[in-house]
Amino acid sequence: MFASNSNSKSFLAQRLALIKPSPTLAVTAKAAELKAAGLDVIGLGAGEPDFDTPLNIKEAGKSAIDRGETKYTSVDGTPALKKAICAKFARENNLKYEPSQITVGSGAKHTLFNALFATLNPGDEVVIPAPYWVSYVDIVAFAEGIPVIIQGKEANDFKITPQDLEKSLTPKTKWLILNSPSNPSGAAYTTAELKELAAILLKHPQVFVLSDDIYEHVIYDGFKFSTIAEVEPKLYDRTFTLNGVSKAYSMTGWRIGYGAGPKELIKAISIIQSQSTSNPCSVSQAAAVEALNGPQDFIPKNNEMFKKRRDFVVKALNETPGLSCKTPQGTFYVFPSCQGIIGKKTPKGQVINNCTDFSNYLLEDALVAVVQGSAFGSENYFRISYATSDEALMKACERITKACAALV
Ligand SMILES: Cc1ncc(COP(=O)(O)O)c(C=O)c1O
Repeated sequence: MFASNSNSKSFLAQRLALIKPSPTLAVTAKAAELKAAGLDVIGLGAGEPDFDTPLNIKEAGKSAIDRGETKYTSVDGTPALKKAICAKFARENNLKYEPSQITVGSGAKHTLFNALFATLNPGDEVVIPAPYWVSYVDIVAFAEGIPVIIQGKEANDFKITPQDLEKSLTPKTKWLILNSPSNPSGAAYTTAELKELAAILLKHPQVFVLSDDIYEHVIYDGFKFSTIAEVEPKLYDRTFTLNGVSKAYSMTGWRIGYGAGPKELIKAISIIQSQSTSNPCSVSQAAAVEALNGPQDFIPKNNEMFKKRRDFVVKALNETPGLSCKTPQGTFYVFPSCQGIIGKKTPKGQVINNCTDFSNYLLEDALVAVVQGSAFGSENYFRISYATSDEALMKACERITKACAALV
């Protein structure tokens, strides 16, 4: 009924054609479906830590309920949470913001959505380095902007160079989206690399930077995280720094993200939010205050566990013929190449023509769910999330190695 009316036109809005469902969520759903059908599928598709939300944060949520903090709050965040966010930026990033420069949304994805809808006019260009987080391209397209993709090369750890950036900028460029450490590659820009990119941006005053720092705390091997507004203070007035509590604090379900930037942008985001979701969940905001103000010592402990898993997975993949994998500086993803598999035949006689075929083969024949690299804008790679138990990871790697060995 919804597909067509009497004029055989779709009942649904034409703008829906601009976007597709998130491929990472689709893989997770397909794996869940196979599991429900009784198959022993190992899901390596999910983008969330497998650790529980720390107890003190859960308790803060419970006490907020007991105190009756169960009503509407100000549209773009409670004063207490905005204060905690300002303190976080000052403490961890050397960035001074006032509460009027802060917006809180129902997850960083929501805040990103609002920021792009508040700023993009049809035809505005947004430069997005690939491999990219799947939602950037779709949200830009949904807001009628034009995604301009720059390929980060594996030889440069999937990072873009200042020359790549310079070539992609035009008078129509409105935003550059930077994501470091990056989903899906795990690569992180050093302070020196950010400075070089900033030098190019200084020559193009029409370009704003959206710095997605959601994986800021998930870093390894003593890597020093920095963010572009901190590295180049001259870009402070044209940077929107995006972050949230989902990844570092294992709070994906609580749905709290935030951004900091120019007051004019923050006000525009608040208008959109006031006519769509209104405030983010009051209880989650109280829990996020505790996350940001409370003890942070579990973060390096979680990272220690993630690092062991990262090293295990990278080694196992590099020992698998046809696959190769870089060791990333952050996140809980690796982004191996399956170039050496392309053109091979499965035991059922199907040719693996691309990374989607390979990911389907892993899911259907090896019962391991990964996400094809093309979903992130990079062909012949795939993403593994190692935010799962050591046991599941070991089993999954064994299955991947066996499945690759069975190809001819
Ligand atoms: C790069 C990146 N940015 C933003 C988000 C959104 O996080 P959330 O909406 O849970 O705050 C994610 C989640 O997967 C992500 O990978």
